[in-house]
Amino acid sequence: FGDQVLQGRKVVVSAGPTYEDIDPVRFIGNRSSGRMGFAVAEAAAQAGAQVTLVAGPVSLATPQGIARRVDVRSAAQMHAAVTAATADADIYIGAAAVGDYRPNSVAPQKLKKHDGAALALQLTENPDILAHLSAQRAHPFLVGFAAETQDVERYARDKLQRKGLDMIAANQVGEGLGFETADNAITLYWADGSAELPRADKALLARQLIERIADRYRAVRG
Ligand code: C5P
Repeated sequence: FGDQVLQGRKVVVSAGPTYEDIDPVRFIGNRSSGRMGFAVAEAAAQAGAQVTLVAGPVSLATPQGIARRVDVRSAAQMHAAVTAATADADIYIGAAAVGDYRPNSVAPQKLKKHDGAALALQLTENPDILAHLSAQRAHPFLVGFAAETQDVERYARDKLQRKGLDMIAANQVGEGLGFETADNAITLYWADGSAELPRADKALLARQLIERIADRYRAVRG
């Protein structure tokens, strides 16, 4: 499906959370399961694309038809893997929930308690993978995700513009949707349009999303 537009195209999909290590046994993570991104990667492969899946720490089997899977842990590792994989890619779909911050340094030994004293963790902002890609002179067609708990359209359109994306897939998290759930509902936004993809399981939604991406890709790059 996808009307042959994606046949043989190089598509890179990032999925899952990132883990930012604090010490040898602790990390800062988030609740992304990776399921939406894995479903999108599978749908892109079904549409005939040559798919590289860059996965954060998830417990998911590689979907059928994926050409290459690269497993990473931290945002910095994901940034490096995505940068390498997108060097000659046609489309990048950033479905990963990249951690915004990482500890300034990773403690070499397990941190200990100190008689009830407070512990302050100093955090550094991680690079924005999508924003870095869009700043490059030649870059793939860029699709981002925005998981929001409120004001979905306003935040999504702001990210579309600020990160220099071609499309953004926004979903409201909470109420049985979004993270750690089987179902999702998405509104897609691009510069001069939008489309509703109503609540459905992630596999069906992923196929609809890939069809929309294929349409838009053909319109601006075909
Ligand atoms: O700003 P926010 O994290 O909500 O944006 C979400 C989108 O940006 C997702 O597509 C995510 O993969 C991407 N992102 C990124 N690098 C970051 C943070 C988010 O590429 N450091």
